[in-house]
Amino acid sequence: MALELKSAVKTPPKRVRVRIKRFSPETGREWWQVYEIDTYRGMTVLDALLQIKETQDHTIVMRYSCRMGVCGSCGMIINGTPRLACQTQVSMVATEEEPEFTVEPLRNFPVIRDLLTDFTSFFEKHRKVKPYLIRRDTVEQENPKTEYKMTPEEHIEIYPYSLCISCGLCVSACPVSASDEGFLGPQALAQLWRYTADVRDEAWVERLQIADDENGALKCHFAASCSAVCPKAVDPGGAIQMLRSALLKYKLGLWRKRKINGPVPPLEVSKEKVPLPPEAQPVDGADVEAMEREPVVIDASKLLE
Ligand code: SF4
Ligand code: FES
Repeated sequence: MALELKSAVKTPPKRVRVRIKRFSPETGREWWQVYEIDTYRGMTVLDALLQIKETQDHTIVMRYSCRMGVCGSCGMIINGTPRLACQTQVSMVATEEEPEFTVEPLRNFPVIRDLLTDFTSFFEKHRKVKPYLIRRDTVEQENPKTEYKMTPEEHIEIYPYSLCISCGLCVSACPVSASDEGFLGPQALAQLWRYTADVRDEAWVERLQIADDENGALKCHFAASCSAVCPKAVDPGGAIQMLRSALLKYKLGLWRKRKINGPVPPLEVSKEKVPLPPEAQPVDGADVEAMEREPVVIDASKLLE
């Protein structure tokens, strides 16, 4: 990562060749197409692809949206590694000595056209792990009066896994997903652990059963390539190990789920007056209490006079 940061602040070669893997669903033909473009400092691979699309070949198909590493839609194989195109600078993948880089669609996903892949099965697997809080107090769930308790320490336990942007890079890097379509995959399993470890969730037995399924956590070979490519440092490989450990302890009768946190009591409204800071004292003659009782209405038309 340190090396990547170093090359991200470098200037890319003035001109680069971009080798793009194309696919036509009409003919079933796959081919590599090469484009040459001028670059600039800070240019990302997504910028390069958009420049090609705008100035040379509008037929290239790809998916992107936020251009800032948040939406997770621009995942591609760049120089052989799953990466976000908007987070990868040209200077990270092309050098003066080797002014060329390759772009391919994500592996382990059906290709729709060119760089566009089909995420239907990915999101079906995500849904399978029930990625939401499940509780018995349905009344509070339907008509929330307050919020569920969670201490900062409890939040830290699940925080890294909650950063997932569903980009699919981990699934694309996973050797088990490559050979077994049924495998839930690192993204769904990381989310399974995120909710199992959440002290507000009450469905941990149900979740451990999903992890114990023949397509669940035990299928992982722990290659850890998922964690190596994750752009948000989610560490799905670590999450799967946590799931396996919880599963083993559960089966041996050793796993004790922490207490389930309930809703916090509604806050008491304090009658105590909070003193104004020295720099915010009212002007002489202002009756602050009267202003609190009856807020002053400012007539905007008078301001313009
Ligand atoms: S775990 Fe990481 S690589 Fe996998 S989908 Fe989430 S953000 Fe992307
Ligand atoms: S365009 Fe949103 S993550 Fe790249």
